[in-house]
Amino acid sequence: MRSFFKKFCKSAPHLTQQEIIKLPLPRHLAIIMDGNGRWAKKKGLPRAAGHRAGAETLRLIVETCLEVGMPYLTVYAFSTENWKRPPEEVKALMALLVEYIEKELQQLKQNGVKIKTIGNISELPSTAISRVQKAEKETAHNHKLVLQIALNYGGRKEILDAVKSIAGEVASGRLPVATIDTATMEEHLYTAGVPDPDLLIRTAGELRLSNFLLWQFAYTEFWFTEVFWPDFKVHHLYQAIYDYQYRQRRFGGLK
Ligand code: FPP
Repeated sequence: MRSFFKKFCKSAPHLTQQEIIKLPLPRHLAIIMDGNGRWAKKKGLPRAAGHRAGAETLRLIVETCLEVGMPYLTVYAFSTENWKRPPEEVKALMALLVEYIEKELQQLKQNGVKIKTIGNISELPSTAISRVQKAEKETAHNHKLVLQIALNYGGRKEILDAVKSIAGEVASGRLPVATIDTATMEEHLYTAGVPDPDLLIRTAGELRLSNFLLWQFAYTEFWFTEVFWPDFKVHHLYQAIYDYQYRQRRFGGLK
C-alpha cells in the first residue's frame, strides 16, 4: 500500500500557491472527506469531534479554492448509506451541517460562493432542510465558486432517478427513445449544468468511490492520500493539484 502512495503521490516538500498556478487548475475538484472518525480515535476523542475538525478543514479548503480561482468544488458530506451509523453520530453530523451553514453563510455569500446540494435533502431533519434551502436561495446568484454539497447522496440512486425521469418523458410521448444520448442523461442528473470533476481527492487511505458521482467520474483523475481529513492542509491540496497538472489526460484517445 505504501508503495502505491509513493508512486502516485510525489512528495515534493510543501508547494506554494505560485507553483500551482503556473499550469491550468482543475476546473472541478471533488473530495471524499474521509478519516474523521479515525482522527478522533487516535486522539482519544468522540467521533463527533473528528467531524467538527473535518468541518474546519472544509472551511479552509473552500477558502483556498476561492483564492486560487477554482470554479467548482463538490464534497461528500453524507451518503445514502451513512444512515446506517449510530443515531447519535447521524444527529451530530446533521447538527454540524446546520452549524456550518449558520456560521459560514454570510462569509460564503460575500465571497461569491453558490451553495448547491446534491442528493435527497427531503429526508434530512427539518432544521437541516430549512438551513440548506435558505443557503441555496441566498447564494443562487453567486458564481465565483459553486460548492456542491452531497447530502443523503448515492451515485446509484442519482442514476436511477435520472433513468426514471427519462422513462417518464418517454412514456408521456415527450421524448423519442432514439434521441436519448449521454447529454440527455447528464441533463437529468442532480449535477445537471455542472462539468464533470477533473480531480477527485480521497483522504484517509481508502481506495474506493463509495457510491460517489459514479457517472461523473468517467474520466476524472484520482488522487489518494493516507492523511486523515482533519489533518488535510492547504499544502496537501496544492500537492494534489500539482500531481494532477502532470497527469496526461487522453479521454480514451491518443497522446
Ligand atoms: C467520513 O469520515 C466522513 C463523513 C461521513 C462525514 C463528512 C463530514 C464532514 C467533514 C463534516 C463537515 C461537513 C459539512 C457539510 C458541515 P468517517 O467518519 O467515515 O471516518 P472514519 O472512516 O475514520 O471512521
